[in-house]
Amino acid sequence: MPQSTIESVLQEKRLFQPSPEFSQNAHIKSLEEYQQLYDRAKADPQKFWAELAEQELEWFQKWDTVLDWQPPFAKWFVNGKTNISYNCLDRHLTTWRKNKAALIWEGEPGDTRTLTYAQLHREVCQFANVLKQLGVQKGDRVGIYMPMIPEAAIAMLACARIGAPHTVVFGGFSAEALRDRLIDGEAKVVVTADGGWRKDAIVPLKTQVDKALAEGVPSVKNVVVVKRTGQEIHMEDGRDLWWHELQKGVSADCPAEPMDSEDLLFILYTSGSTGKPKGVVHTTGGYNLYTHMTTKWIFDIKDTDVYWCTADIGWITGHSYVLYGPLSNGATSLMYEGAPRASNPGCFWDVIEKHGVTVFYTAPTAIRAFIKAGEHLPKARNLSSLRLLGTVGEPINPEAWMWYHRVIGGERCPIVDTWWQTETGGIMVTPLPGAIPTKPGSATRPFPGIIIDVVDLDGNSVADNEGGYLSVKYPWPGMMRTLYGDPDRFRRTYWEHIPPQDGQYFYFAGDGARRDEDGYFWVMGRVDDVINVAGHRLGTMEVESALVSHPAVAEAAVVGKPDELKGEDIVAFVTLESTYEPSEELNKQLKQHVVQEIGAIARPGEIRFTDALPKTRSGKIMRRLLRNLAAGQEVSGDTSTLEDRGVLDKLREGA
Ligand code: WTA
Repeated sequence: MPQSTIESVLQEKRLFQPSPEFSQNAHIKSLEEYQQLYDRAKADPQKFWAELAEQELEWFQKWDTVLDWQPPFAKWFVNGKTNISYNCLDRHLTTWRKNKAALIWEGEPGDTRTLTYAQLHREVCQFANVLKQLGVQKGDRVGIYMPMIPEAAIAMLACARIGAPHTVVFGGFSAEALRDRLIDGEAKVVVTADGGWRKDAIVPLKTQVDKALAEGVPSVKNVVVVKRTGQEIHMEDGRDLWWHELQKGVSADCPAEPMDSEDLLFILYTSGSTGKPKGVVHTTGGYNLYTHMTTKWIFDIKDTDVYWCTADIGWITGHSYVLYGPLSNGATSLMYEGAPRASNPGCFWDVIEKHGVTVFYTAPTAIRAFIKAGEHLPKARNLSSLRLLGTVGEPINPEAWMWYHRVIGGERCPIVDTWWQTETGGIMVTPLPGAIPTKPGSATRPFPGIIIDVVDLDGNSVADNEGGYLSVKYPWPGMMRTLYGDPDRFRRTYWEHIPPQDGQYFYFAGDGARRDEDGYFWVMGRVDDVINVAGHRLGTMEVESALVSHPAVAEAAVVGKPDELKGEDIVAFVTLESTYEPSEELNKQLKQHVVQEIGAIARPGEIRFTDALPKTRSGKIMRRLLRNLAAGQEVSGDTSTLEDRGVLDKLREGA
């Protein structure tokens, strides 16, 4: 764990105002309105959240205590009874939204389905009854290992409806990763599909499930299989059952189970840099409220919107912002099975044009891939339906932000750069698009009710524009409650890096950040990745952004390499735009460019050109592996979340 704070070196001065028209129509219309909300929430967070919980959600029974905080364990809306599937479905059925599209789905081969709220409700109730028939009871865990098809959403909502916590495992994970997660979560039933479409090929999900269960996972009694891709698969007698056969003729009457506000809603595993994955625990009432409010105010959701979040349902972004947040608001949420691929690199733009998408939420890694694929692709489509853009997952380099703004947003759409984590349940730092002017590369201001700070390791706030650690100083409804089965690890990982002081606890996010003179937050990257050059501690984000601002560079990842003189020297791994070739000359130019943008302190000692960077399956650059490579060591630690092992082998050869 690093000892001192982090230096900030990047200066970004551009400022973008939302158009008056956007602001006038937005839920939160001005900086003053945001500031009032923020101040009111800060003065009395419990009152703020309680009022919203009352106004925005349906409760079967009201809570008696808003917050029970026994650090680091929080309970929200204690003794309140509700059900998130009720809030996402049933309550819309008594309004005109009954026949509004809840989900618009498009499969990679071009097949589509639309489910209205009434239709989705029916399917969910039926599948909830199926789960009951299979012996799933309140409290039993259900594993979900699915492609991006409506049945994934139906299964999750059905679990929530009967109080069976789901544990969704991303469909790109290996059999081994799936097995570990099913064992840790003790899943009773696994819901999967024969396969899913991704990049013009079938991902053989059921075969992976068979492998995961081959040596026996004692808790798993049944596997329910959706027929999606139709190829021949093995069905184990007595264990495996077809979804469509189970759904046939089953009753569509299944009232939502009144759940305690603190009942477990789901477990979602997130990788630690070392050790086994962490089972992040989210509960019912607080999570429902937090994802509801953030969706409403940040994506400025209206009944006229077609909202598309590109995340897979297997990530927290899919849970909170494909499914629960949008449906709780009665919005139309678009689900897309595919990914940009050789046969149609512009497929995302096709989807936007075809369905008239108005709000589009994706990740910086995708944006950098769009840039590399070329702006002729979006330019060839009509994207004028878009009114708001968002990003999540990594710091976005200012130049990628500018491209997104110009090419996709047509210079008219505000961009919400949303900072948050699996652990936080929902978005924490973000512009409210009608209210907060944006600066490229900054996630801007805290969501109302979020008391967040940049501090040193003693918990003292650092001065404006000085780097430090991002830390939350008051509980919020969407926060993780614990790590499944491991409260000690929960405490150690998140609450002890900064020791509590006089009853003040600090949630340690693990990200470096600075706050500027306007109160805007700039996330500088994971603190594990900080580079120490001659006593200067640099975040990865800023050096990478300097590199990406050079026209030749598509993507960059920097790491530290041990150096006798300087402690560490910067090694930059760089992928080039398609029209550029690696050369000695370019190598020199790039080093010089960083010196110009930031200063001599950040000059990379070494630049390595590569075709691709090693990333996790959710698109984050795995700098830990690059660090090993740069130091000439064998790659160590967990590599199970790596998207493409071939990338690593190539990098090794190139070394
Ligand atoms: C990073 C994804 C900068 C950060 C919702 C965080 C970001 C980790 C941003 C959580 C952003 C996410 N700007 N960094 N807008 N959004 N991150 O759990 O390092 O997959 O700690 O949750 O992603 O990743 P996770």
